[in-house]
Amino acid sequence: MKFEGSVSLLQQKMAGSSAGVARRLAVMSALNLQVGNAVLDVGCGAGHLIEDIGLAVGASGKAFGLDPSETQLEAAKVRCDVLRNVEFLCGMANNIGLANESCDAIASIQTLDYIDDVDAALAEVARLLKPKSNFVNVSVLWDNFKFYGADDKLNNIIHEAFKSHCHHQMLPMELPGRLAKHGISNIRTESLAFVMTQRHENSPATYAEMVLANFAISQGVEEEKVQQWRFQLEQAEKEGRFGFTSFPVLTMGNKF
Ligand SMILES: C[S@@+](CC[C@H](N)C(=O)[O-])C[C@H]1O[C@@H](n2cnc3c(N)ncnc32)[C@H](O)[C@@H]1O
Repeated sequence: MKFEGSVSLLQQKMAGSSAGVARRLAVMSALNLQVGNAVLDVGCGAGHLIEDIGLAVGASGKAFGLDPSETQLEAAKVRCDVLRNVEFLCGMANNIGLANESCDAIASIQTLDYIDDVDAALAEVARLLKPKSNFVNVSVLWDNFKFYGADDKLNNIIHEAFKSHCHHQMLPMELPGRLAKHGISNIRTESLAFVMTQRHENSPATYAEMVLANFAISQGVEEEKVQQWRFQLEQAEKEGRFGFTSFPVLTMGNKF
């Protein structure tokens, strides 16, 4: 999935929703940053986490945000406009223009899911981390990313179509082994799972529904079917039988 144009705007809405706030709080706590640290966010998107990191490390620290999407980086630059210690790098996770062992911590939220060669990205993380420093990742168990309330058959069509939106459906299950291969130890995992029963303006369900609908159409599902699915979700919400579940997982570890 390319995070440009309207996809980028919807992703920014998701990042600003209650689920986005919750995962950034969990990541910031796990990073355990100190003033003066140099910190990288891989796949920084519209810069929500970089803003928090820039504030946490202070003027003597440095926050690097990496992303290949110009649209995302433009939004990130606006968000972090007043922070002088923030630098954005336009590029891919497998080839980051920073020196060996230059980072006191590295974070990544819902980005490795979209990278085919995830080991190449993890090799970069291992190269950039200083010894004993933390890597904190959030990826989603996409098999548990589910809407409830629409007719089962139609619901399955929409969810089946969404499977091809990223490379890794269940990355958190594989990350401990992959991280160990790259010299990351003390690996811990934490559930950031949530359930939503409403589609209000701050609910991730609202924006996830739009993302799934647009993606299904791009995969050839008839627009009429997609509209019907959305109508059924709306009805389910009115009748108090709507639900949306997501199971992001925080995985953290540190370099030897
Ligand atoms: C779901 S968004 C998450 C953005 C941000 N981390 C957040 O939580 O709001 C995924 C981001 O990964 C970026 N991305 C995709 N492929 C990438 C790659 N190979 N290297 C680095 N970032 C990548 C996308 O451009 C997008 O901004």
